[in-house]
Amino acid sequence: MRASHPLEGSVAIQGAKNSALKLMAAALLAPGTTRLHQVPDITDVAIMGEVLTAIGAEVSRDPDGALVISTPEELIPVAPYELVEKMRASVVVFGPLLARQGFARVSLPGGDDFGHRPIDIHLRAFGELGASFVTEHGYVEGRCGRLVGREIAFEFPSHTATDNVLMAAVTARGTTVIENAAREPEVQDLAAMLIAMGAQISGAGTSRIEIEGVDALHPVDHTTIPDRVEAATFLAAVGIAGGSITLDGVRPEHMDMLLEKLVTMGMSIHRGEGSLTASIGERLRSVDIATLPYPGVATDYKPLLVTMLSVANGVAIASENVFAGRFGYIDELRRMGADITIEGHHAIVRGRDQLSGAPVRARDIRAGAALVIAGLGADGVTEVSGVEHIDRGYELFVEKLRGLGAEITREFD
Ligand code: EPU
Repeated sequence: MRASHPLEGSVAIQGAKNSALKLMAAALLAPGTTRLHQVPDITDVAIMGEVLTAIGAEVSRDPDGALVISTPEELIPVAPYELVEKMRASVVVFGPLLARQGFARVSLPGGDDFGHRPIDIHLRAFGELGASFVTEHGYVEGRCGRLVGREIAFEFPSHTATDNVLMAAVTARGTTVIENAAREPEVQDLAAMLIAMGAQISGAGTSRIEIEGVDALHPVDHTTIPDRVEAATFLAAVGIAGGSITLDGVRPEHMDMLLEKLVTMGMSIHRGEGSLTASIGERLRSVDIATLPYPGVATDYKPLLVTMLSVANGVAIASENVFAGRFGYIDELRRMGADITIEGHHAIVRGRDQLSGAPVRARDIRAGAALVIAGLGADGVTEVSGVEHIDRGYELFVEKLRGLGAEITREFD
């Protein structure tokens, strides 16, 4: 990829990866046929499809692109190592399996490029609802009768633990309350689907979610919300390459804090009905950022923001408060000439006039996208390897960027 001319045109935003994966797991709660619309064609969705297939469901796409999941009466309650190892979000089948089968055998996810990522919050909550666990040979086995509603307080508002416990509690006996629940729009999307399936849930999107257990759920058709991280990625692209682009099919209200930061950095943003137009006149200005659970600035935006800060005017501190180890991409940005120092969980970013194209390696989804974006503004050619990480979360990434005028090609599959 070469330094690009200013970007122009419009791009359609895909359905949210971090919603779709959980909506797919929710389909396990209701025997019959679930149809999910706007599910992106990405590797992580394919892996979740394999997880559901291993559990006994049938997964396919219908001619209009909807993902069709046929869930049998009896599930095979095992999430195997080969799949959980590829994608830790597979653990969201734990809640539905306990609810449906009273038993689940789920491989323990290992560490990853963000460092240590335990699932203790999930397990403690399932335990409070009445499940008991043994861990052996790398698997956690959970057993329960019908789960029983309880008031549960999360130590941290974990996104996936909130999803998992929601799905476990919808058919529990009595009332479950999750205090300090994650408030992400994707949690609200999952709750919306569960409610359509017959669940009784109130408060999703706030830090107190109340779930009144019902006896059974039925399958539904549901449309996934737009992917705010993909949207942020194209905003970062225009931040780096300049120009003016329109994002179609977005929910700007899911991105308030990010949009505020980008405006402070000097981006012009016009919010339309389901669209956003962003343009850049002059060089971006530096601004401090700190990641937090929603509605704070998402940790998934941070590699993109740090990339923008590395060519902005001034010095900024970017603090990581969600995943202590999420700094792997910074060494790669340094290879491109970025001036970034790490102090504990803070990155001090001194803006340079321009980055310098270099071969770099993607080590996770968002870091990979950020390195591609960095290449759009770098002098000369940037070659990003490890693109399979980008494929995990982005549908047609290269094609969409090319459609906006970026000089980018993909050489290997
Ligand atoms: N945590 C624990 N114990 C737990 C669960 C989480 O200590 O049982 C800690 C984690 O180690 C981390 C923090 O809590 O330090 C936050 O983790 P959280 O559980 O909220 O993250 P997640 O649910 O595993 C989801 C997204 C991530 C996104 C984070 C934060 C999915 C599939 N993944 O992960 O997305 O960064 O929330 O918003 O929804 C990505 O899309 O590239 C991605 C990494």
